[in-house]
Order: sequence, then C-alpha cells, then structure tokens
Amino acid sequence: MKKISLLVFACLMGSLSFAQQTSPDIAIIPEPVKLTKHAGQFTLPKIVVVQTAASPEINPVLDLLKNKFSAAAGKTVVVKAAGANATIKLVINKKADVVLGKEGYNLSVKANGITISANKPAGLYYGVQTLMQLLPKEIEGLEVAKNIAWTVPVVDIYDYPRFEWRGLMFDVSRHFFTKQEVKRFIDDMVKYKFNLLHMHLTDDEGWRIEIKSLPRLTTVGAFNVKREGAFGDFIAPKPDEPRTYGGFYTQDDIRELVKYAKDRFVDIMPEVDVPGHSLAAVAAYPQLSATPGADKYTVRSGEKIMDWSKPGHPALVDNTMNPASEYTYDFLDKVVGEIAQLFPFAYIHMGGDECAKNFWEQSPDVKALMAKEGLKTMEEVQSYFEKRLEKIVESKGKRFMGWDEILEGGIGPNAALMSWRGIKGGIDAAKLGHEVVMSPTTYVYLDYMQSDRITEPPVYATLRLNTTYEFEPVPDSVDAKLIKGGQANLWTEQVYNFRQVEYMIWPRALAVSESVWSPKSKKNFLTFFPKVERQFERFNQSETKYSPSVYDPTFKAIRNADKSLSVSLTPEVPGLDIYYSFDNSSPDRFYPKYTSTLAVPIDATQLKVVTYKGKTQVGRILIMPVADLQKRAGN
Ligand code: ACM
Repeated sequence: MKKISLLVFACLMGSLSFAQQTSPDIAIIPEPVKLTKHAGQFTLPKIVVVQTAASPEINPVLDLLKNKFSAAAGKTVVVKAAGANATIKLVINKKADVVLGKEGYNLSVKANGITISANKPAGLYYGVQTLMQLLPKEIEGLEVAKNIAWTVPVVDIYDYPRFEWRGLMFDVSRHFFTKQEVKRFIDDMVKYKFNLLHMHLTDDEGWRIEIKSLPRLTTVGAFNVKREGAFGDFIAPKPDEPRTYGGFYTQDDIRELVKYAKDRFVDIMPEVDVPGHSLAAVAAYPQLSATPGADKYTVRSGEKIMDWSKPGHPALVDNTMNPASEYTYDFLDKVVGEIAQLFPFAYIHMGGDECAKNFWEQSPDVKALMAKEGLKTMEEVQSYFEKRLEKIVESKGKRFMGWDEILEGGIGPNAALMSWRGIKGGIDAAKLGHEVVMSPTTYVYLDYMQSDRITEPPVYATLRLNTTYEFEPVPDSVDAKLIKGGQANLWTEQVYNFRQVEYMIWPRALAVSESVWSPKSKKNFLTFFPKVERQFERFNQSETKYSPSVYDPTFKAIRNADKSLSVSLTPEVPGLDIYYSFDNSSPDRFYPKYTSTLAVPIDATQLKVVTYKGKTQVGRILIMPVADLQKRAGN
C-alpha cells in the first residue's frame, strides 16, 4: 500500500514539475467549462471601443471595463451602440442559449477584436472577469503600468457555473469591518465569480446592523472592550474599561452595500444568529434572557463564555434568548421586519448554531413551555423556537435558512439548511426535501489555520489548500437539485484586521471557486496549483495579502525506539526543495537539502526550514522549537 502511494506521489511530482516548467500562459480560476486556444494574440489599442446596446443593466459591466482599463492600463474606453472597429463587443443573445443560463458567457478573442456574448448582463460581467485574467497581471495594478504590451491570447471560451449559490461568509461581528472593507471584500470575490456574500451580522461580540425600533442593539450591542492576543481566553474586562471598540452599519450603509454588491452581481444574505450567540442582543435588551441577572451582562470582548470541553458546550453566561417569552418573538418580528426591507435577497439566515441549553434547563419559563407544548427535550425546545421564527421570516416575504442544528428536534416545513458540521446535516435535510447549501468545516472553514500552528494565529484546526480543493458540494445519494451550492466561511475571532482577512481567504477561496463554478471533471489540483501561483502575481499587483503557507512543509515528529527524536517534512505541493538548519541560523539554498527523515541532534533547540523552487525562495523561514517536536512525538 505504502509503496503504491509513494509511486503515485512520484508520478504526480513528475507531472507537476512538467506543468511548472511550462508555467501556464493561460491560468483562469475558476477553470472554464471549455477553452480552446488558437495561435496569435490581440493587442488592446490606446482607445478601447466597446460596442454594446445601450442598457442600464449593462452599466456595471462597462464600469468594470472602464475602471480596470483606465486605472491599470491607461486606456480610454469609448462606448458605442454600433459601428465598425469595435475593440470589444458585448452582446446580449437575442435567442437565449439555455446551457449558458443566467450567468454563463461566450468569450471569443480573435486577432482583430474581442466578443463576449451572454443571455444576461451577469454573464457579460463574468466574461469580462475572465478577460481580465487573460490580460497581463499588471491589469490588477493600482496605478497605470508603463511599457506593457496589453495582449490577449486568441481563444474561445464557453463557460457557465456548476452552482447558482457560490458563497463566501464574512463574520463582521467578532471584529467589525468597515463599509469600505466590505466593498473591497466584494471586489475581490467577484474576480473569481462568487455571487453570494453572507454577512454574519450578530454574535456575542457585537450587533452590527442598525434596527431603528431597537436602538440599544447598536448603541450598546455594537461595542465592547478592545483586546488583542489569543481571543477566547482574555481577562474579563473591568466594569470601568471603555466600551468603544466596534461599530455597526447604519441602514443607509446597508443600502449602499446592497447596491454596491448588486452592481457586481452579488447578493448579500444577512445572518442574525439566534437563539444562541446572542450576548450582544441580550446585553442591549436583557428582557430577552430567561436568566435572572442578565441586566448585568455586557457584550463579550473575547473572554471565556462557553465551555467547549464539555458535551453540549454549556454557557458560562447565558448568551441565549428565552424561547418561552413572547418578548423574544416580538423582538425578532421587529428585527426581521426591518432586515427584510433592507436586503432584497430571498433568504434570511437566522443562525441556530451552538445554542447552549444549560440555562434553559434551569429556567421555570422554559419548563412551563415544555409542559404546555409537550416538548420533551431541549432540542425540541429549540425546534419550537425555530419553527416560530420561520413563520416570522415568511410573514415578511422571505425564506428561512439556518445552520444544521435546526434539524435537531425537527426542522420547520420550508427551512433551507446550511450544513457546517460536515455534510451529514445537508444529506439528511436534502433527503427530507429541503434545500441545502454545503459549507462543511472539513473543507471550507477559512478561519482554520493554513499551516503549522507555529506560524499561524492559533485556531483549533488546520485546513490546507489541497484539502480545501477537495470540496465537493454534492454527496452521492442525494438529489443534486436540492443542493443549491457551496460556501466558504470566514469567522473572525482571531482575525483582527482586513489584511488578515485577505490572508485567510486567499488562496483557499480560489480552491472553493473551482468547486462551485467549474465542472467536476475539470478539477485537478496539479493543474490548479500552477494557476494559483499566477494569481499570486496578480495579488502582488493589487496589493492583496495572501498566505504563502502552501509552501510550508508539514512537520511530523517521530519518537524512535531508542527514545531519540526524528522529524519528517512533507511538502504540500510538488516541485519544492526544502533546506534546513539545527544550528539556529537561517537556512537558504546553500544549506543542507532535506531528502529524508532527519535525526534531531541532542542539543538542538530549533529546527529552521525554508522552501525554494530552483534558485527562488518561495516559502518563509519556519522556526520549529525542538521542545515542541518533543511534545508532539510523545513518549
Ligand atoms: C458555526 O460554525 N458555528 C456555524
């Protein structure tokens, strides 16, 4: 078995090094359905004439072309309804091509011009995004690049998405991110044809959306005490510490963001996470709580409030809403009513995850509710809550979505489910006929570490690029029609600033984009990764931060029979050379090259490693304390 896998790995290494030597001149992510390359190229003239039928719906497509071409290429874009000599023709198909659907496109680059056709403006937009990836990387630059030949290879591309739901979730509650940062997030996601931004707007650490009928949600609920370090274990704030860290979006901000997203063919789905994860709301309106003394609660600043080591993860302070109180349902009616007016998207996500039940178990209100409604378990209590909430959401003309905990105790009749604890919840819900979006921790939790914990902000799990790439939204044995698509989630407990948001998202979201857009048959990590490296060059141009962790080897500490310590290093991608030192100096490619398991010298205190491709350093220097290896090897 082992020998066979070694052989397979050796073959993969061989084929990838070939791919690397021939570094792809066309490197589109997500991989299109069909791409045919021909000889020749087209060069953009100084004045780019775009020919298209005048229609306000096409303006976002024109804006994208104008902005990129003027800001990075120094071109002037002139739009004409007809006439000869068009550089780029944007054509809405008179007779719809049913295979292309709402978002597909046909991109034809000839030696004398470019034509993009589609059934709908969204398709033209994605065609233009693909065109950007065919242009030199400098098209992503923030200022006009000089002395660049703005050439495009002659190609025919026929392309459409595999799934209608191609989502990224951005947790703006744990740390607040400004309107400008959310816009930047949208600008980045659309380059890779994501079309759904799920905003996690409320949690224990902050309520981020103005609700006019409940002003304390933002005057009180949007602010906590600033803390930095390892979130989750902070010293509890003192009563007199200033609660000024945070922020929220006004309703005008939300309208602006919704429009900004719409102009980029992105829907925004709001999430209000209840009945657990609700401390910010409870701190603002303690009447929401079933627990006496909730009027002393404050918005969480990262101190410990749940015990994750115990089954059912009991809460240490009651961060839940009272499911037995009419006040709670009146409150949620107001919240959902205002939110439904702000977001045109059909679904509102109402959370439902990780609701601790230990305070409910103590509550006379909850006990009385159970007796009255014949509820036998706490899961049934939550199900009672979720079903009432589903009715509230539907009464505002919206569809109800929740995390997979809404299955426990019985899912509501029309609920859509987002499966996060693996894919089982999604499978079970689909079998019951519910719509599902797959978003499993195992593949698409972008808050997880991308590399060894010696280099990353500590999170309890690791998810490397090659694992993310294996994300497959449709399990065998379910009706594929009920799987609306897939989504990756960025929780931000350990993400304090927008640079780190980018670092966590890229390049893993590139992998997700191929899982949700490209045909399954076209996915191949070995051809994907060289394209990722071409995107790295583009991220450098746009000054977007990305993680280089794919170049970090994994460390395996080994305890030998004689109790001595060895370590093996495994690269995530083929074609890398690893150099190392045990002498505390920083290795480069003139240091010993790793070829097989290393015996750790008895006096060594640090193993330092670095990766190269040929003469070029690609990885960062990793410093592994030998004491850490000792611990990992055990006795
Ligand atoms: C979740 O990650 N708690 C949905």
